[in-house]
Amino acid sequence: MKPVPLTVLAAENRAAEQGFEHSCERGVGEILAVLAATTPLGGRILELGTGFGVGLAWILTGLGSRTDVEVVSIERDAERVSFLTEVDLPVHVSIVEGDIGALLPALGRFDLIFADAEAGKWTGLELTFAALAPQGLLLVDDMDLSRYGSEKDRSTVEKVRKVLTTDSRLAAVELDVASGIILASRRGAVP
Ligand SMILES: C[S@@+](CC[C@H](N)C(=O)[O-])C[C@H]1O[C@@H](n2cnc3c(N)ncnc32)[C@H](O)[C@@H]1O
Repeated sequence: MKPVPLTVLAAENRAAEQGFEHSCERGVGEILAVLAATTPLGGRILELGTGFGVGLAWILTGLGSRTDVEVVSIERDAERVSFLTEVDLPVHVSIVEGDIGALLPALGRFDLIFADAEAGKWTGLELTFAALAPQGLLLVDDMDLSRYGSEKDRSTVEKVRKVLTTDSRLAAVELDVASGIILASRRGAVP
């Protein structure tokens, strides 16, 4: 089995020390890294919900030595943001503190979006679509219905699943990986 990158291990440890249990799981992170590696030259990646930086570490793993890609991650929890800003992040990475719903409309378009927060996924999915560039990739985490105890949560996840898999702007696939993901690509304009 491939070793887990040291930067990912460091982020996982940081999260564990803070008792944070919502970091993306390794199966999701590995796919995220592969998707990040497909970002076009000079492209942009957005993470919704930074947490303690596990997803971000996988994104940077996928980018390797590339610095042409701008990476933006949004987090509303000031303590989590301050942990991350103490880490030696490369200059092409920015952690933006604030609410996803308020910030997203002004951030422009992205070639890859990792939707891993309530906002932009369970609520405001339309804002996320609007931020996805043509041919852009959208990776949505936590889609495994069996992990939800309440009927209300299952109904929310089911609604999002339906939109993602039936919206004509997207081609999407559900993958039974870790916490359950949907991977979608935004269809480009018809010439
Ligand atoms: C599932 S965790 C993210 C984990 C992270 N992507 C990772 O892989 O390590 C969700 C994060 O989204 C943040 N969050 C939730 N709602 C938000 C909102 N409306 N705006 C900004 N951040 C939000 C939470 O504070 C939490 O840290």
